[in-house]
Amino acid sequence: MKVLVATDKPFAKVAVDGIRKEIEAAGYELISLEKYGEKAKLLDAVKDANAIIIRSDIIDAEVLEAAKELKIVVRAGAGVDNVDLAAATTHNVCVMNTPGQNSNAVAELVFGLMVMAVRNMYNGTSGTELKGKKLGIHAYGNVGRNVARVAKGFGMDIYAYDAFCPKEVIEKGGVKAVASVDELYSTCDVVSLHIPATAETKNSINYALVNKMPKGGLLVNTARKEVINEAELIKLMEERADLKYMTDIMPAANDEFAAKFVGRYFSTPKKMGAQTAEANINAGIAAAQQIVGFLKDGCEKFRVNK
Ligand code: 3PG
Repeated sequence: MKVLVATDKPFAKVAVDGIRKEIEAAGYELISLEKYGEKAKLLDAVKDANAIIIRSDIIDAEVLEAAKELKIVVRAGAGVDNVDLAAATTHNVCVMNTPGQNSNAVAELVFGLMVMAVRNMYNGTSGTELKGKKLGIHAYGNVGRNVARVAKGFGMDIYAYDAFCPKEVIEKGGVKAVASVDELYSTCDVVSLHIPATAETKNSINYALVNKMPKGGLLVNTARKEVINEAELIKLMEERADLKYMTDIMPAANDEFAAKFVGRYFSTPKKMGAQTAEANINAGIAAAQQIVGFLKDGCEKFRVNK
């Protein structure tokens, strides 16, 4: 069996070593394709792969068509918006993710971005503190829960909204559950986004919603760029000089944001929430183990396509 690790944004070496150990212990062969850049290289590499480990790498119908021997794709991470799940099902390919394995890394970056914003991008001027501020966690999944845990240490007043998570679960974590997304934004000084990119959420963070935030509002995005209505956020930030936007997923309109909102906007050059050795090890090794469990025992835990 051939297991391909196809990561345009490579894992830390220590994680690749760990993945290799798991795959070789199962008697399989590991092939690595890092920083491949062009899709043509991916299309060539997948030809004889039986299993593939990816990150945000795009697995679309064309890739699945080229991967004639493929049985399973594991997205080492949470979001599966980069995989054409319906096409995978058509090709009889199982798709899994590794939920929770990189959540702490993303949560820590949320605070890195928050502190940077409230300290005025470290420009030497007097900023503000997070302690006592109202934090809104938009979606209370694995990352949202880690954000809540860290926020307690900062002494923040924590609120969360999640359409799918029961109020009791949120409140058990010492967090106040709000009844609507509108209430979250109108209540909180800082909102941290943890929603996936789906047909329902794309473009949903728009002018009307963000405009509900109190004066000095800060929006932090470590989720997906697609959930932001960029044109509307730009219009709003032009009208409201008090708002700040910090993102780990560079907007399509990055140049415009950067030019117009100096001191109020920051984007990492490349999504790096999950880019730690620990997260790479956790997610990469989980992916390798899930592949072995699937190929040897037919285990479909964490399957995301029907
Ligand atoms: C995820 O969905 O797990 C995160 O966005 C991390 O993505 P990455 O593996 O491309 O860094």
